[in-house]
Amino acid sequence: MQLLEGKTGLIIGIANERSYAWHIAKSLREQGAKCAFSHLPGDRNEHRVRRSLKEMGIAEPWMRPLDAGKDEELDAFFAAYENDHDRLDFIVHSIAFADRDLLQVGKFITTPRAQYLSAIDISAYTLLAMAQRGRAQMARGGGGSIISMSYYGAEKVVPGYNVMGVAKAALECTNRYLASELGPDKIRVNCISGGYLRTLASSAVGGTDTMPDVVAAKAPLRRNVEGADVGKTAVYLLSDLASGVTGETIYVDCGISILGG
Ligand SMILES: NC(=O)c1ccc[n+]([C@@H]2O[C@H](COP(=O)([O-])OP(=O)(O)OC[C@H]3O[C@@H](n4cnc5c(N)ncnc54)[C@H](O)[C@@H]3O)[C@@H](O)[C@H]2O)c1
Repeated sequence: MQLLEGKTGLIIGIANERSYAWHIAKSLREQGAKCAFSHLPGDRNEHRVRRSLKEMGIAEPWMRPLDAGKDEELDAFFAAYENDHDRLDFIVHSIAFADRDLLQVGKFITTPRAQYLSAIDISAYTLLAMAQRGRAQMARGGGGSIISMSYYGAEKVVPGYNVMGVAKAALECTNRYLASELGPDKIRVNCISGGYLRTLASSAVGGTDTMPDVVAAKAPLRRNVEGADVGKTAVYLLSDLASGVTGETIYVDCGISILGG
């Protein structure tokens, strides 16, 4: 018996085969889940995501364009999903955005209002926006599970993470308030705080070049996190194994965040 047999849901945030969302989707499918996908609007983005899904063995994915910063696109995306699927058991929110010029060491002080707000909008508010639109279908099916991706920079200062740290703090707090309000509908909401993984998004953050070496030398597990580590925690959170877990932020970072120095 696979842990996610019979479960169907949405993966938001694959850019390519290095994305955390890609690794999560792979792990979910290995446990029997059916996944539907988004891609950023544009032919090149669609092509990249399609190619990465082919690599996972998915020749004809259910996939629609989505700029999560636009309410009308979110409405259309969730309506299309609901039209084509009987159930929504899970949502994987694995998206973030901030201007890379602001993600450089010493540049937090330069953050303009508009970029501060847009980082929070795309990286945190969209979790609420997706939960809003998915709630009714999830509740009709007897409940569900929503996860999002955070990082240690939400809690402590990581030089260069800057406005993204502010956005991740908002994401983790949004996670808790959603968990509180959606619990009565049997919808669980949790965050995974992932370790550093080289992806398109993380390569925009300045000062990370030495991070893998530091983690390999100092983390309790003496290695960097792999996509599959996060994928397996996603399986747990989206499965009945985590039936009593909601509102949490679970660290999957080989233990680096427990160290004081
Ligand atoms: N890579 C890391 O080290 C790391 C560590 C902890 C947490 N995270 C988080 O994991 C999540 C996934 O990032 P990743 O590292 O896999 O990088 P990634 O670049 O592969 O994924 C980021 C995704 O966000 C999507 N996105 C950006 N703006 C969007 C918008 N307006 N609408 C819809 N989608 C949008 C991109 O299309 C992309 O697919 C992010 O929340 C990131 O902050 C990453």
